[in-house]
Parts: sequence; structure tokens; C-alpha cells
Amino acid sequence: MPSTSDYKTKQDELQILINSRTPIITVETSEEDRLEKLLLAVATQMAVPFYTWSVTTGLKKFTGAALYNSDEPEKALANIATITGDAIFLLKDFARYCENDHISRRLRDLAANFCTARRSIVISAASLALPPELKCESAAFQFGLPGTDEMLGVINQVLVEANRELRVSVSLDANDISQLARNLLGLTQDEAARTLRKCLLAHGKADAELLSAVLDAKNAILRSDGLLETVRRDSSFTDVAGLKHLREWVDKRRSALTTEGRRFGLVPPKGVLITGVQGCGKSLAARAIAGEWGIELARLDAGRLYDKYVGESEKRLRNTLELAQELAPVVLWIDEIEKAFASAGTSGDADAGLSQRLLATFLTWMQEREPGVFLAATSNNITALPPEMLRKGRFDEIFFVDLPTADVRAALFALYLKKNSRNPALFDLPKLAAATEGFSGAEIEQAVAAGLYTAFDRKQQLSTEILLAEAKGTQPLSVTRAEDVEAIRDWAKSRAVPAD
Ligand SMILES: Nc1ncnc2c1ncn2[C@@H]1O[C@H](COP(=O)(O)OP(=O)(O)O)[C@@H](O)[C@H]1O
Ligand SMILES: [Mg+2]
Repeated sequence: MPSTSDYKTKQDELQILINSRTPIITVETSEEDRLEKLLLAVATQMAVPFYTWSVTTGLKKFTGAALYNSDEPEKALANIATITGDAIFLLKDFARYCENDHISRRLRDLAANFCTARRSIVISAASLALPPELKCESAAFQFGLPGTDEMLGVINQVLVEANRELRVSVSLDANDISQLARNLLGLTQDEAARTLRKCLLAHGKADAELLSAVLDAKNAILRSDGLLETVRRDSSFTDVAGLKHLREWVDKRRSALTTEGRRFGLVPPKGVLITGVQGCGKSLAARAIAGEWGIELARLDAGRLYDKYVGESEKRLRNTLELAQELAPVVLWIDEIEKAFASAGTSGDADAGLSQRLLATFLTWMQEREPGVFLAATSNNITALPPEMLRKGRFDEIFFVDLPTADVRAALFALYLKKNSRNPALFDLPKLAAATEGFSGAEIEQAVAAGLYTAFDRKQQLSTEILLAEAKGTQPLSVTRAEDVEAIRDWAKSRAVPAD
């Protein structure tokens, strides 16, 4: 279990790194928000300006607006070069861009000039590997999981909320609460909050019995060795444009996972495989199913099955699948399932033996499992999947998600305008739809985001004209990678059911 030193110690350690003029600080964590808060606290204490960057928000001062044209990684670094004096820059998910020679070089040049002030670039990612030439400029900060003091904050917040919103009565003394905090150690902040909330809901009140319930729940999560992660149900089909057929299919089966439905004799659905063109909402739809049915969502991280430092992959997979069963009723989401099982077909691969065994374990589970776990798998490249997996009866249905039609594109514009607090009625949606033939949902979302920047920059309101110009300047994937997209469509025509 990673270290859980207290918050104050973490603040001090970071402060020392920054004061000692470490140009690049790397932090391996999946808890971005928590890291951001810690950095903000450190920056405030040191009276050093704090900037954050992400590819979606660009570079901005913590409380300010984004700097012009800073959403591209290289431009963000150019912007950083123009900011002088003390500063802390948190670059979220930046490690992946460092593999690019330009960016890596630029970052090194920047770092060389950094020792003149208390300036540090903090690079965070869930898993981080910097190229060797950057490694020597950088120091790793061990963020670790929340300690008891941070847990106390989480507990306090959840209890207050539960008391206010659900009228849950709280009869815990200070001792109980610190025990509760210890019982949650080993989880991330979000996991801890979720676990506590779930146990509170199930138990109905916050008393001494809650402590052991929380401990059991935590152990269940940890037992899965991090392969399985419960995910917040943050979307339902109201966040999805199009995919009408899939939506109806899901809607019809809503009751089948419930006890009433089963008593009535409904056969619970086993699962769907969603394949199709990139950026058109496969992953979004898979997770929306849980929201639609109002049941838990758990994600199995297929890529991590091959974590070479862990070993015993088959056993871990078996344990994880068992754990999923304990969470039932649950949607088990496996994103890009080909990552786990693709090489099972190709015997030349070094991993082939292991893949074969993993596949066998998985197929057995698919065949023999009890109802209550609904498998929602997505695949970008279904041709890479072993045919056994696609055989009749393994999935209830294989859905194909195609590029959105004009109607759906209009709905996508409306959806993302609304999400950005703009009134879709003020835009010429049919015209926008007509101008974005071949765009994926992700590309339309991106066009709206880019349009907002342009409008802000010109001190104008966002308009149809600005969006049209953004669309015109975009080369959609379906054009730049036309052959790939065509191949996916050809495959699906004969073998899958259109999702729309
Ligand atoms: N049909 C859609 N409705 C709403 N949003 C969409 C749709 N298609 C894509 N998007 C947007 O694009 C993003 C990327 O979609 P995603 O589901 O990850 O694509 P895929 O898994 O098919 O590659 C989503 O998070 C969502 O914001
Ligand atoms: Mg996806």
C-alpha cells in the first residue's frame, strides 16, 4: 500500500522541492483534484503564483481565464516561457506529450532557465514515464494516498451532506470517527467518499455498525488489486446524442436486472459489445447504461491485466470477475476490450500464451456467471478480437456506432451549446449540421470548445458564423483516416446492429 503520510508533511516536502529550484516535478497520481488543491495550498503559503494547464482548458492562472492560444502543449510551453518570476505550473496529463521531440526539447530549454527563481513545472499523470533526457531534470514527488487527516475531511463532508440531504442520523463520537478514517485508508479520496456514501445509504444511519461495514467495503475494493474500479455514474442517455436503437434496447431491459423483473421471468441481459468509429460515443454510451438503469458502474481496466510487475494475471482476472459479481447489480464496463484479448489469436506474439489463458478465463466466466453483472464492452478494432468472443450467445448484441447523421450532428451541437450555457435556439443548427458532414461527436464537441475561445478572444458572443469557421478549419478523422474508417464500417455492415 502506498504511503499515507499526513498532509502537512506533503506540503513541506513539495515546498522543499520548489524552494530548491527543481525545474520539473513529476507526480504519479490518479487524483488530479487532490493534487491541485495541495499545490494551491503550497503556492498560497509560499506566495507564489499558481498556474494550471490541461489540453481542454489551456494555461491559466488558478483563478483567472485561460491565456490565449495555450491549449496546445507546445504553445503552453511557449506561454510559460513568457511568464517571468516565481511560479508553479501544474501540467495535467502532460507526460504523454513529452515523447514528442519538439516538446521534450522545449521543456528542457525551459527547465534550464528555471533555476533563476522559485519556478517549477509539475507534471502529473496516473502513470508516468518521462523520456530519459527529461528524467535528469526532474524529481519525483511521492503524493501517496490520503492519510487519516485528509480522510477526516472527506468523512466530515459526506456525513454533513447525508445528514442534510437524506436526514441520516449521526451518532458517532470522536473515537469512532478517527477509526472510520483509518478504515478508509488505502482508498483514494473519491473512492473513500463513494464507499462511505454507499455504506451510509445501505445502513441508513451513521452509528458504530457503520465502521465494520465500511471496512468490509474497502477490503472488497482493495482485493481486486486495482483492476476493478467503481466509477461514478455521471452520465445517462440524456448526455448522448443519437444512438437511438441502442438507447431503446437498453430502455427495454431496464427492469430485467431487478428482483421484480426476475421474479416475473425476464431473462436478465448479459451484455453488449459496442464497436464503431472513434469519437462517436462508444465509451460514453457504455457508461451511460449504468446511469440509465440506476445501478453501479464498475470499470475493468483491461490494459492493466498485462502489468508485468504484478504477475498472476489469470488469478487477478478471476478474482476481479468474482468481485464484480459481489457488486451486482452492476454494469461491468470494459473499455477497448481488444487491449486485453487481442493477441490471443496471434501465436507469434510473446504474450500469446498468457492472452490465451486470460481469454479462456474470461470466456468461461461469460458462459457460466450468475445474472446481475451486465457486461458493457467497447472496441475500436473488433477485427482484432478473437472470434470465440463474438460467437452467438456471448453478447446479447453487437452494436455498431457510425458517424452521426445530419440530425444527430444538429443534436450534438445543441447538446454541447447547452452544456456551455448557450441557447441552441439562437444558432442555425441545420446549417451547422450540413457543414460538419463526416465529423464525429468528439469533433463537434471540440469545434464548440474552440469556437468559444475564438469568440472570447474577439470579445464577441459565440455565433453560428464562428462555429462554421471552426468546422471549416477542421479535418475530421473520417477524412484524414478515410481508409480506416471505411474498413470499420465495412466490417460492421454484415456483422453488427446499427446503434442508430
Ligand atoms: N453521440 C454522442 N453524444 C454525445 N457526446 C458525444 C457523442 N459522441 C461523442 N461525444 C463526445 O465525444 C467524447 C468522446 O466520445 P467517446 O465515447 O469516448 O468515443 P469513442 O469511445 O467512441 O471513441 C465523449 O466524451 C463526448 O463528450
Ligand atoms: Mg472510447
